[in-house]
Amino acid sequence: MHRIIRNAALLLAISLALPACAREPASAPDASDPTSVYTRTDASPDGIGKVYMGREISFVMGHLGAGWLERPTREAEERTDLLLDNLPLEADDVVADIGAGTGYFSLPIAARVPAGRVLAVDIQREMLDIIAGRTTSAGIPNVEPVLATETDPGLPAGGVDLVLMVDAYHEFSHPREVMTGIVRGLKSGGRVVLIEYRGEDPAVPILRLHKMTQAQARREMAAVGLEWVETKDVLPQQHMMIFRKP
Ligand SMILES: C[S@@+](CC[C@H](N)C(=O)[O-])C[C@H]1O[C@@H](n2cnc3c(N)ncnc32)[C@H](O)[C@@H]1O
Repeated sequence: MHRIIRNAALLLAISLALPACAREPASAPDASDPTSVYTRTDASPDGIGKVYMGREISFVMGHLGAGWLERPTREAEERTDLLLDNLPLEADDVVADIGAGTGYFSLPIAARVPAGRVLAVDIQREMLDIIAGRTTSAGIPNVEPVLATETDPGLPAGGVDLVLMVDAYHEFSHPREVMTGIVRGLKSGGRVVLIEYRGEDPAVPILRLHKMTQAQARREMAAVGLEWVETKDVLPQQHMMIFRKP
């Protein structure tokens, strides 16, 4: 019973955290182009009406949802501590946190790569301002905010050891273009850690298009040449999927 009440509260929280005013306007779906990898559909309440490999893309969570990302109950609900502990990191790694939001993961990762750095990448300037404020006040020297575009994550070619995407990939309006930029930015043998709420599990209390099935995610990563390495079954609500650039 306690779990049901907690899940209902979480669903309410994300619904409240994502009102229309907290949604970023997405760029319009591409004009009809037979060579495009995208098609159109009637937009779902949590979608933008643009379809990639059979999946409707969700709307972008706006910066007004920043408080939800930093909610005090998040670590217990999502076991973000286990997520961090299971990242395959070396002390001198260059890590790109794509869709970094408020830096919930960028900041603790910076402490785990003391001889490396974290590129905290987002398309919302307001999110990057939050990250810059937090790193300055905490005296963290190795987090670099990077303003991306909807089609380009802005990574240095062949310069990144590990890319992390937590609850972000499903809302990329141009996933093929962004993933192509990510693959270009990875070193040979570099890893992508993709974290998404489990789309197969109706008990995970998150809006439908903000979840992904593992089969769908693996298809989309294979489409840009990434090899699936393993899926760590360590988180209560999310897949932790690890891919590698050959
Ligand atoms: C739900 S938030 C997750 C933030 C963070 N990863 C976390 O778990 O706390 C998703 C973030 O992805 C960002 N985003 C959406 N599309 C993006 C894109 N194409 N490139 C980079 N960031 C993007 C949004 O601006 C938003 O800050």
